[in-house]
Amino acid sequence: MIDLRSDTVTQPTPAMREAMARAEVGDDGFGEDPTVNRLEERAAEMLGKDAALFVSSGTMGNLIALLTHCGRGDEIIVGEQAHIFIAEQGGASVLGGIAMYPVPNLPDGTLPLDAIRRAIRSDDVHYPRTRLICLENTQMRMNGAPLTPKYIQQVREIADTHHLKIHTDGARIFNAAVALNVNVQELTRASDTVQFCLSKGLAAPVGSLLVGPREFIQNARRARKLVGGGMRQAGILAAAGLVALETMIERLSEDHANAKYLAEQLADMPGIELDPATVKTNMVIFGLAPHGLDARQLAERVKQDGVLVQPRGEYTLRAATHYGITRAEIQTALAVIRRALA
Ligand SMILES: Cc1ncc(COP(=O)(O)O)c(C=O)c1O
Repeated sequence: MIDLRSDTVTQPTPAMREAMARAEVGDDGFGEDPTVNRLEERAAEMLGKDAALFVSSGTMGNLIALLTHCGRGDEIIVGEQAHIFIAEQGGASVLGGIAMYPVPNLPDGTLPLDAIRRAIRSDDVHYPRTRLICLENTQMRMNGAPLTPKYIQQVREIADTHHLKIHTDGARIFNAAVALNVNVQELTRASDTVQFCLSKGLAAPVGSLLVGPREFIQNARRARKLVGGGMRQAGILAAAGLVALETMIERLSEDHANAKYLAEQLADMPGIELDPATVKTNMVIFGLAPHGLDARQLAERVKQDGVLVQPRGEYTLRAATHYGITRAEIQTALAVIRRALA
């Protein structure tokens, strides 16, 4: 199978499996797992923050961040296409009593600055209290668009004016850094806290890190326990994460080049709606003309020929490139899609 449904289907590398087998471990509940401690130190250092917390998933990292930034009755400003808003079961509201104020995402992934300003509540007894602005980098649903340092700084200025904090869902922040050819710290500096995933393009089997100020991370550690996320000999997982950070970042440019190629070739096929210029990282979200096959039918048809893509709407599909997918496999997938559409 050529599996383009998501970059979460990546398999751990041989070096990761070896590091996992050899990992030195201890009880992380007592802060005594040396491999987890090393991963947390390394992540904080790479992203330019004081401290980090290893958590089991991106969803948990975002939830813990929101529970730590906000109290009941506080409100976050978040993109209406954000994973936090759409795809985390409204966890911050369900579990934390936190309101969400969705604002539109532009095609480049940004939230319009005016929309952010308008969403900030005035001090009025009727309103929730605006506490936090959430960004997503890359913005997955907008073809994995990377947010630039300049844009993030503009959001920072709004946040500072109104005494707000910024949390970045950086599930794929290294994809953004590689695509923009900047050090990842350029993307994290203006954000108070950042969550990033080891288990997507970086190909580790499990885990995310939440990074931020030391006191924030101490409080986040309490929130992790609250949601049942405390771990014990998690160094087995952290060992793979360390290999991911050491060996899997630079190669993301290969995934981006494959996604661009895939997008350009798809855009040339009759019946496919896609602007390849919008593809800058590893996500290719494309539409079908609303007369022929629908998304499920196309996905089903290409599956018969060994290609998996993900239907995401009636006439919308996603193909993600990742470690383990070669240019030759992209060419095979294109031939299969072309045949299915014919
Ligand atoms: C942008 C974004 N944020 C957060 C997550 C959540 O990560 P996890 O699946 O590890 O909970 C995902 C997962 O696909 C994502 O795409």
